[in-house]
Amino acid sequence: MVDFSSSPSIDEISHRCFIDVELKDVIVIRKKDAIVTNGTTGLTCWRASAILAEYIRLFCDFTDKNLLELGSGCGLSGIAATKYHNLQSSCLTDGNDYVLDQLKENVDINFPQENYISVRKLDWNINYKNQIPILPDIIIGADLIYDVEVFTGLCQTLKNFLETPNSYAILAQNIRNRDTLDSFLNKELTKQGLKYKRIARVLLHKSGHGICFEKENGNTVDCLNEVFCSNYSFDYKSKIGNEVLLAEIFEIRMNINI
Ligand SMILES: C[S@@+](CC[C@H](N)C(=O)[O-])C[C@H]1O[C@@H](n2cnc3c(N)ncnc32)[C@H](O)[C@@H]1O
Repeated sequence: MVDFSSSPSIDEISHRCFIDVELKDVIVIRKKDAIVTNGTTGLTCWRASAILAEYIRLFCDFTDKNLLELGSGCGLSGIAATKYHNLQSSCLTDGNDYVLDQLKENVDINFPQENYISVRKLDWNINYKNQIPILPDIIIGADLIYDVEVFTGLCQTLKNFLETPNSYAILAQNIRNRDTLDSFLNKELTKQGLKYKRIARVLLHKSGHGICFEKENGNTVDCLNEVFCSNYSFDYKSKIGNEVLLAEIFEIRMNINI
């Protein structure tokens, strides 16, 4: 994806414009520039959402699937998945009302006439299952695993929606704190009868001008594009030897299937 950003306006809102390298799809995202506004992190656009969007574009086939995004924030990953794949339905969710208002705006900008994409309130601490129109085949989420206070709710939500053996979740997470992430993966998911596998590591490209997906089989795919490296609200990176790890991507399923 290529990214053109507008300069921040007086009320610190800007628009980012993402264009895939084949110049087929344009995505416009309205976002706040501050990391936290109105007590939520969901009004700005996090790098994990761009990484997940690119992962979905390159490596997934969601044809005819029903998609649910958790903690959509500005909606980049869910909007990208809906643009890039021929989905049956797409439901973007968040638990925060300010975030939902902006998310609806972003969905309207990018899908002025479509009715197979919807926005719903889904708070992981409340059982909103009835409010989601269709049971998903695929759940996606970017940058959701950082606050231990919401781990139980997030895992229960995943469990509630991962009912069928073929359904799975793909979560992209930048490494804010390795212990916190490990506790989510190894303790909280297990408690709910869920299992995970890491399907990719996302490294800063050696040139500094893009990223490299390192798949679980060791194969690597470069995406040489500044969009992943610049202009995000906060830069989470961990240096491991010569590598700079930007994020990891996980697949989560009910225990029986992994
Ligand atoms: C760091 S932001 C990530 C937003 C977006 N996925 C991205 O990567 O740009 C975390 C998101 O999770 C949402 N969230 C946090 N706790 C939640 C909860 N209990 N229920 C639903 N959404 C929640 C926030 O409102 C916010 O939009």
